[in-house]
Formats: sequence, structure tokens, C-alpha cells
Amino acid sequence: MKKIVISTGGGDAPGLNAVIYAVVHSCYRRGWEVYGSRSGYKGLLNLDELMRLTLEDVEEIYATGGTILGSTNKGNPFSTPVENLAGEIQIVDISDKIMKNFTRMGFDCHIAIGGDGSLEIAHRFALKGMPVVGVPKTIDNDLEATDRTFGFDTAVSTATEALDKLHSTAKSHDRVMVVEVMGRDSGWIALYSGISGGADVILIPEIPFDMDEVCKKITDNELHGKDYAIVVVAEGASVKGGTVINKGDGELGREEVILGGVGEWVASEIRKRINKDTRSLVLGHLQRGGSPTNFDRLLALRFGAAAVRLIADGIFGQMVALSASSMIPVPLIDAIKSRKKVDLNSDKVLTAREIGICLGDCQDFFEKQEDNGKQ
Ligand code: F6P
Repeated sequence: MKKIVISTGGGDAPGLNAVIYAVVHSCYRRGWEVYGSRSGYKGLLNLDELMRLTLEDVEEIYATGGTILGSTNKGNPFSTPVENLAGEIQIVDISDKIMKNFTRMGFDCHIAIGGDGSLEIAHRFALKGMPVVGVPKTIDNDLEATDRTFGFDTAVSTATEALDKLHSTAKSHDRVMVVEVMGRDSGWIALYSGISGGADVILIPEIPFDMDEVCKKITDNELHGKDYAIVVVAEGASVKGGTVINKGDGELGREEVILGGVGEWVASEIRKRINKDTRSLVLGHLQRGGSPTNFDRLLALRFGAAAVRLIADGIFGQMVALSASSMIPVPLIDAIKSRKKVDLNSDKVLTAREIGICLGDCQDFFEKQEDNGKQ
């Protein structure tokens, strides 16, 4: 008989509930108990926020978005902002209290479902002696050591559907539509949805862009009778020599700045430079919502079941990962050491270039290719 506690941390992603479903079912078959910690580590900090999870609690949740446990991206127990008596904010480490509660509750393992931030916290608890298994989540798909995170496929589907819809309105008005999608450090969502959604330009954090190239692509469209264009830009993309546009820190306890604004910036530059009717929109949290796609459901269910198998085998400090088509354990430290970037030599990037999509550096790229060919 084992007692497991599960938490969901960071920004939510479609598929979180499917992982919880698989964990509860896999544990139930083994006669183990599962508890859920509400809002990240809140349940381990304040035991009233722990909930026992039964089969009834998780009935049919595999198909739903969000997380029944709630989530937060402001809850790092190793650096928590607390107001002191003088009204000043102090950063304190409350991880020992969580360790004590974990032991007091008699838990055997913590399953931490999260992106790089949450898994780093899980790794620090593992170093303090907590048996931990990680499950990789993020719509951004930017975690090293796993081929895919769940949530990404759903986000790409949502963004692709939006692009499909924007084509007709862009065409009707001879307009440029600039669509800002999520992707802080890597351009996976922009690249996948942009290629599949017929974008003319895709701007990603991995390639600092040149507005001359972006505008040239739009005016080149007109040479062959296409008077409209679709530009997809990842929130973390930046102009060559510029910085990532953000909205500041925003919230107390949040470790990352809030990104946003690059889409409108690109739109205003297009208007200014080529006097083209241009509109921008931000897809934002639409990409995080809704029911997970079949791909994400299956992946999330497989991750949840694989996490429980690791616990059964007594393997901790690892994250379950998708490698080729298998579930494998990888050390948590490998999962968090760097962000997974789009490989600029991958066939997806080459496909984008070959089918005429501008990645913000088109001219440079093809000139370089020609020069290499001449040498
Ligand atoms: O990490 C996933 C992500 O969706 C990022 O792409 C985005 O910058 C961030 O979350 C937004 O988080 P929040 O929920 O705090 O707005």
C-alpha cells in the first residue's frame, strides 16, 4: 500500500486532467491511495488544501481542459514573498514546512506535473530527500529530454484553426493579419501552426527578425496577385538587435515577466513601412483552454500511467518522457537544464523555407545557401 500526492504547477495545459485520471486509476488497481495538492504546493503547505482523489472524483475528466486541482505560476516554495509586520515584502524559503507535511501525511511519492519552473522546484525537493516523479507539461513544448509535452498539440490545433479563419477575412479586405501566439523561449507553436495554417511569415524567438524582410515578403505576394498576408509571431520573438517586448513583472511572486505586444509592434511597423492595411490579434490563453486533442489525451494518459510504473519500480528523481514512441525515465536535472529550441536545420524549418514562408531572415538565408553552393 502506497500513498501518493500529485500536484499541477505553472500555467495550465490541456491534458492535465488526463494525467490525474491515469494516476488515480493506475494507483487504484494497485490498491494505493492518491491525494491531490490544490494550486501547486498549497495542499502540502496547508493540509486543508489536500484532497483525497477517488475514481468518482476523476470520472470522465480525461477529456476536459484545465486541472481539477488548480494551478499557479506564483508558488515557488523556495522563494515565497511574504509581507512582514512592517508591511515590507520578504522572500522566504518555506520548503521545510512542505517536507514536514509530506512526511506527516505518510506520503511515499510526489508526482509533480509541470513545465520547467515546476519541475525545477520538484528537483529541489528531490535533493531534500522527497521521492519525486515528474511529468512534462507545457503548451510551449520547450522541455528538453522529451520529444513532446502534452498541451502542445491542442494549442497548435487552436492556433491553426484561428489561422484558417483569418485567411478569408484577410483576403476580403486585402489586409495583413498579424497573429501573436504563445511561445516564450521557443517558436514551436508559431512554426507548427504557421506551416499548417498557410502563414506567409513566421517569426520565432530562435531567429531575430528583420522588418525589411517581413515587408519584402508581403510586397512580393502582390507580385503574384496575392494582396493579403498572414504573419504569425511568437510572443518571445524579437527584432534583430532589439529585445523581447513585455508587460513587466505584473504579479507578486511570479518569476517570469509577462510577455505580449510584439504582434501589434510588427503590425504597426508594416503599416508605417509599406502603408498596408494591417490588423493584429493575440490568441493568448485561448491556446491553453479547451478539451485536449486525441494526441494530447493519449500522451497525458501514457505519462500518468508511466509515472505510476516508475513509483512501483522504486525509481525517483526522474521525469517520464516520450522518446521515439516509448515512455522512458530521464533524470529531472536533464529535463530542466536548458529549454528545447527549434532546430534551425530541422526539416520543419526547411519545409517552411522551401514553401516560401519568410522566417524573418529569408534573404540572408537563401543568399548564404547560394554562396555555399558556389564555393
Ligand atoms: O509557459 C506557457 C505559457 O503559456 C507561455 O507561453 C506564456 O508566456 C505564459 O504561459 C503565460 O502565463 P500566464 O498564465 O501567467 O499568463
